[in-house]
Amino acid sequence: MPGGGGAAAPDNGSPPIVRGVGDLRDAVAGFRRDGHRVALVPTMGALHAGHMALIGAAGEACPRTVVSIFVNPTQFSPSEDFAAYPRDDAEDLRKLAAAGTDLVFMPTAGDMYAADFATSVSVAGPGAGLESAVRPHFFTGVATVVCKLLLQCLPDIAVFGEKDYQQLQTVRRMVRDLDIASEILAVPTVREADGLACSSRNDYLTASQRRTAARLYEILCQAAGRLGAGGDVIAEIERAMVALREAGFDGVDYIALCDGETLEPLSEPRQGARLLAAVRLGPTRLIDNLAL
Ligand code: PAJ
Repeated sequence: MPGGGGAAAPDNGSPPIVRGVGDLRDAVAGFRRDGHRVALVPTMGALHAGHMALIGAAGEACPRTVVSIFVNPTQFSPSEDFAAYPRDDAEDLRKLAAAGTDLVFMPTAGDMYAADFATSVSVAGPGAGLESAVRPHFFTGVATVVCKLLLQCLPDIAVFGEKDYQQLQTVRRMVRDLDIASEILAVPTVREADGLACSSRNDYLTASQRRTAARLYEILCQAAGRLGAGGDVIAEIERAMVALREAGFDGVDYIALCDGETLEPLSEPRQGARLLAAVRLGPTRLIDNLAL
């Protein structure tokens, strides 16, 4: 239906695309009339193997998959990379077509945020500390947009990556606290051959920074291994900090052992603990995490 609103299915094999919330609701209602459960995969586009794993898991969980692509301005601070964030709709749509995605939701900023938009969702608990200490605006932006996407689509299942572990736990807490009727499905981190977690921001790295970047996973693995074997938390975190600086990272925003659900800091290793880190390489920030 080009030009006529609704779910336009371009002739080039791309999945149908909707831009307005009304059209999204109509399309999802159609899936439900056909008796299908629906999974939503929220993304900011620039799709890579990590996103595609989420889309694969969504397809296994539900017969209909909706992928949203929206570079959400409210989760970027003025000094961050919103304008430069990679955008490649044509390539994303090609990948989504190949993955058999049933519907793509690509709202505009104007669709999502009215000029007098006045509401925000703020999650304490797992949303406090770690990333929030460095990016205080971030999880309010994420929680607000994810809350909107869930209410717009009302999926049975919404899929998130463990790569952004604090985001995952923050979304889980929001969904529980606000009685949102979607199940949250987590997918393990997808990595490059050398262990670096796939991320749109890896493209910002120079060749030499890219080599350094792979050391993050290696150093986290070593620390998690020692902590899992009962190592002293303060000593092992200090050792990992030194190793990260020696590897050539320009800064360590944090490296912390936390409860895997609440993200409260732990002073002793325990079942379900998670080691989380954020480092800087030039202007690029990398985050990663591992279970013990
Ligand atoms: P984005 O960075 O595009 O990530 C979309 C989803 O892909 C998130 O759930 C993220 O955890 C997951 N993901 C990214 N890299 C991954 C990897 N290497 N392995 C597994 N999963 C990975 O996260 C966001 O967008 C936004 O904050 C969003 C939730 C869409 C809200 O704007």
